[in-house]
Amino acid sequence: MVRYKKNDVIFRQGDVGDCAYIIESGQILIYLTKDDNEIPLSLIGPGEIFGEMALLDNQNRSASARALEETVLNMVNREQVLERVNSSDTIVQLLMRVLLKRIRNQNMKMLAPKKESSLYDLTEWASSPDQKAIDKIKLEIRIKEAFANKEFRLYYQPIIDLKTRQIVGAEALLRWESPKEVIPPIVFIDLLENSSMMIPVGEWIIEQACIDLKEFHKCHPKFVSSINISARQILAPNFLDYIESLTKKYSLSPSCLKLEMTERIMMEGVLAIEMLKKCHNLGYPISIDDFGTGFSSLQYISQMPIDDIKIDRSFVMKITQDLKTQAIVETLLFMARSLNLNVISEGIENQDEMNWLKSKGSQYGQGWLFSKAIPRNDLITKMKTNLII
Ligand code: C2E
Ligand code: CMP
Ligand code: CA
Ligand code: CA
Repeated sequence: MVRYKKNDVIFRQGDVGDCAYIIESGQILIYLTKDDNEIPLSLIGPGEIFGEMALLDNQNRSASARALEETVLNMVNREQVLERVNSSDTIVQLLMRVLLKRIRNQNMKMLAPKKESSLYDLTEWASSPDQKAIDKIKLEIRIKEAFANKEFRLYYQPIIDLKTRQIVGAEALLRWESPKEVIPPIVFIDLLENSSMMIPVGEWIIEQACIDLKEFHKCHPKFVSSINISARQILAPNFLDYIESLTKKYSLSPSCLKLEMTERIMMEGVLAIEMLKKCHNLGYPISIDDFGTGFSSLQYISQMPIDDIKIDRSFVMKITQDLKTQAIVETLLFMARSLNLNVISEGIENQDEMNWLKSKGSQYGQGWLFSKAIPRNDLITKMKTNLII
């Protein structure tokens, strides 16, 4: 804590700022100086913070601060402020910069002679980092509109039993059919998963998957659909009720709705794991997606209610050339066998990859060798005409 006497100046406009202050007791005047006159901006007291702007936008002090009486201040250092700002959402950062810029502009206008005030550059901050945040918020708006306009579709990529070469099920993959093109999830899934839109979109995905599954069952009664579930979705308070009510509404058995989740779910803590267990107890099979690429603690695998693991494409694509990758995948397959887990290898693009994986014990496969993700009716046609491999 630092003490100031009445009329002490804490800092002056234009100084370099390296900390902000919280007032413990006393009173502070924030002011500008123009032609030896003070222009008061704000009178603040205990509990209030000042001097934060220079830390947030790394510019000089935008105004001066003076104690109006005996005053005690707590100092907040730059790191304390910046750590929080830098870890916040980029759109929040953008909004903050806009506000700071506006306050600085207003202060400058009060100081500038009238005719010069228009010279002050009001456009300079449309530079690249801000542009990214602007693009992000624009994409978020487009996602909302696309959902309202029913532009989202589920495509299906078949999952194949590598021994029999029969389709056993499919993974539902989200597509955005905009009027111009089909947009893959890589463009929007991160933004979607980190926004509140994931809940309504996720609910739509589950219902559409149930509707489509009824159709698949007409030509393949044991067909299993795998749905990608984000951590945000499974942690939503009504997730379990929702999926259960839909399973009943469409008279489906939970055993044909598989939930795919990445290892990231384990980092969400006890609550997420409890949810997984509840889903599993109700009969929904659980797949761990992108296995081996994230948080892979062998500890949890034995404790988790997992039915199968999906070996990530990044392994499969190197499997025929890279000895180290071969060793890792053989180890994963051995582990899965010992723990009684099924293995689905993802992203199989050629016969050599398939042969290698099959010979080492991967029961199931998925990839462009068999089929890309296709609309529901195309998959039904494929199954009816037995067009797979
Ligand atoms: P993922 O769950 O790992 O899905 C597999 C991705 O690999 C899909 O990309 C699929 O089209 C692609 N893929 C499959 N086989 C091959 C292959 O042989 N070669 C190559 N190069 N790629 C292959 P997609 O559809 O673009 O999905 C990307 C990611 O988006 C998914 O990764 C998943 O994390 C997420 N995602 C997709 N749909 C949903 C959804 O409905 N909900 C949620 N939460 N996430 C989804
Ligand atoms: P900083 O720019 O670091 O130093 C001056 C401080 O005065 C600033 O942070 C804000 O805390 C505060 N300040 C600047 N302009 C105004 C204003 N227009 N109204 C109220 N407070 C202000
Ligand atoms: Ca997946
Ligand atoms: Ca995957």
